[in-house]
Amino acid sequence: MKNNKRFRSLIAAFAASAVLSATAQNSAPLTIKANELKATIQPTMFGVFFEDINMGADGGLYAELVKNRSFEFANPLMGWKEQRQSGSNVLVVNRNDKTANPRFARVTVGSSKPFGLTNEGFRGMGIKKDDGYDFSIWAASHDGSSTTIRAELVSSTGDKLGSASVVVVGTEWKQYKVSFTANATEPKAKLNVWFEGKSVVDVDMISLFPQDTWKRRPGGLRADLVQLLADMKPGFIRFPGGCIVEGRDLINRYQWKKTVGKVEDREVIVNRWNMEFAHRPTPDYYQSFGLGFFEYFQMAEDIGAEPLPILNCGMACQFNTAEVVATENLDPYIQDALDLIEFANGSTDTKWGKLRADMGHPSPFNLKLMGVGNENWGPQYIERNKLFTKAIKDKYPNIKLVNSSGTDQSGERFDYLNGELRKMNADIIDEHYYRDPKWFRENARRYDSYDPKSSKVFAGEYAAQSKGIASIDNKNNWLCAMSEAAFMTGLERNAGVVYMASYAPLFAHVDGWQWTPDLIWMDNLRSYGTPNYYVQKLFSLNKGSQVVPILLNNDVVAGQDSLFATASIDHKTNELLIKVVNTSDKDVTRQFVFEGIKRLDAKGMITILKSNDLSKVNSLDDPKSLSPTETALNVTGKKMDILLPAYSMQVIKVKIIN
Ligand code: AHR
Repeated sequence: MKNNKRFRSLIAAFAASAVLSATAQNSAPLTIKANELKATIQPTMFGVFFEDINMGADGGLYAELVKNRSFEFANPLMGWKEQRQSGSNVLVVNRNDKTANPRFARVTVGSSKPFGLTNEGFRGMGIKKDDGYDFSIWAASHDGSSTTIRAELVSSTGDKLGSASVVVVGTEWKQYKVSFTANATEPKAKLNVWFEGKSVVDVDMISLFPQDTWKRRPGGLRADLVQLLADMKPGFIRFPGGCIVEGRDLINRYQWKKTVGKVEDREVIVNRWNMEFAHRPTPDYYQSFGLGFFEYFQMAEDIGAEPLPILNCGMACQFNTAEVVATENLDPYIQDALDLIEFANGSTDTKWGKLRADMGHPSPFNLKLMGVGNENWGPQYIERNKLFTKAIKDKYPNIKLVNSSGTDQSGERFDYLNGELRKMNADIIDEHYYRDPKWFRENARRYDSYDPKSSKVFAGEYAAQSKGIASIDNKNNWLCAMSEAAFMTGLERNAGVVYMASYAPLFAHVDGWQWTPDLIWMDNLRSYGTPNYYVQKLFSLNKGSQVVPILLNNDVVAGQDSLFATASIDHKTNELLIKVVNTSDKDVTRQFVFEGIKRLDAKGMITILKSNDLSKVNSLDDPKSLSPTETALNVTGKKMDILLPAYSMQVIKVKIIN
C-alpha cells in the first residue's frame, strides 16, 4: 500500500513535469534529412542479455522438469520426497568424488509394495494435455535382480496424468528411456518414480522432458521462450551473464568447459543467485548446465544472433569475495578463452573443434565477439584484461573483445576504466545502467559527445527501475518502458559510437525470481513480453542500416517538448524508419518534413505502443495488454502532419521511391 502511494506520487510528479514541457512546446516541424547518412547501424545493434538468474535456465529456458536430477545439491534429496514403505529405503552413495557427477541414489525395495521418490519440479511441473513426455533414468541393478521403474505424473490434487515403465536388468550402468502422453494440462504437476519388485537398484540422472521443445530437440529448450527471443530478431545474444560469470568466489565461477559434452558429465554447482538476496532466498537454485555453451551457441545460430560469450577474467564478484587470481597463475583462465574460440570456430581435427562436432555441430559457430570479465573494476581488472587481450589478439586478431567499465555509468570506477580502456584502444566497452526512469529520459544525449573514432560502446545491461535497484517492488510498467524508448533513440542516433545494446535481465519465473524488473516473465506453462520487451522488439525489428538526421529547430530530438526521435534508412528494403517517443501527457500533432527524397510511397505504416496509464503492466493473464498496434499511413507529399499521442512510442515506416 505504502509502495503504491510512492508510485502514485512518482507518476504525479512525472505528469506535472510533462505538462510543463507540453505547454512550453513550439510547433516547429521535425525535419528528416534522408540523404545525409550519419552512421552505419551495426547488425548487432539491439540484442539480448541472458543470465541464469530468476530461474532463467534451470526451471526456465532449459525444459528439464526434474529438479536435482542427479542428487548433487548440497542436500542430496532436496526436491525429492520419499513415499515410504517399511523395509524399503533410499541411500545417497558417493561413487568417487573426483568425477563431475559423484552421487547416485541406491534404492532398496524390501517389500512387495512399491517404494516411491517424488520430485516436486521447479515450483511444480508444467504439463500440457496431449503432449508427449520423455522419461529417462540411468540405472544399474545392485544385487543382480531386476526392478521395474514406473514414472507417473500426477496433478497437484493427485490425478494421474500419464505413466510409463522401464525394467532395469543387469549390473552395468545404462540409460533407460520411455515416453508417454499426458491426458490433462496441469501447471503444478509432480513426478512419482515408483520402484517395484524386491531388489536393490542404483539410479542417477532421473529426467523428464516435454517433447514440445524448441525445434523439438530432445532434452532441449522451452519453445515458447525461445520463440519470444526469435521474434525480436536480436542482433546478438550475450551469455551466460552477468555476475554468474564471476561467481561469488572463484571456485563457483562459470567455467564453460564444465558445461559441454554429455549432460551427465556436467558438474552441478550452486547458483550464485541462490543466496544473494536475503529478501529473496532461493535455496534450491543450482546450475545443472544442461543449458551449456554448446546449447547457447546453437540457440544463437537458430535465432540468427551473433553469440557473445563473456568469460571470467580471474576475478570473483567484487561485491562478494572479490578474490583475484594472481597474474602469474592466470594462464588457465586465458587458455579457457583461447580454447573457447577453438570450440566455436576450430576445425574438427582440433581438440575443441572435435568436441563441437561430436556434440552434433561440425560446422563452425563463427564466433566474432567475446567478453573479458563482467562487472569487474579497478587496476586489478586492467592488469588482467591486458594479459587476456594480448593472448587473444596474438592468436585471433579478428575477435572483437568486450571490456568492463564496472557497475555504474559514471563515477571514479567508471572514469578510471573508461580512460584506461580507451588508452588501450579497446574494441568495445560495456556500460551498465540500472537507473530510475527519469535518468533514461535525461540521458538521451549521453553518446552525442562520445568520440566515434575511439572504442565503441556496448550498452550491455540496462533497465529503468521504477523504485530502485534490486527493490522487489520494481515493475515492468509503461513509465519505465517509455523512458527506455526515449533513451534508446539516443543509442540509435549514435550508432557510430554504440555498436550493441541489451536490456537486462532477460527472464524471470513468477514463482522463483530474485531480481526485478525483467524483460520476459513466465510460469511453468505460460510466458509474456513486458512493455519493455515490446520497446526492445520495435527497435530491433526497425533499426535500419544507416542513421539519418531528424531535427527539431536544427537540433537532435532528445527531450525538447518531451519528444525523442531517431531516423534511419533501411537500404535493403529502401524504407525510411522514424521512431518518435512522446513522453508528455498531451497528444501533439507535428509536421514532418522529408528532405533529400524524391518521393515517398503513398502507403506507409505506423506501429504504436501507448497508454495513458504509466503504471500499466502486462501479465500472464493479460499478456498483450500493452503491445503494439499498426495503422496504415497515407503519405501525401514531402510534408505531412502526424499525430504523436500522449505517452507513446511509434515507428513510422515509409518506402522511398528514388
Ligand atoms: O542483471 C542482473 C545483474 O546486474 C547482473 O548479473 C550484473 O552484471 C548486474 O549487476
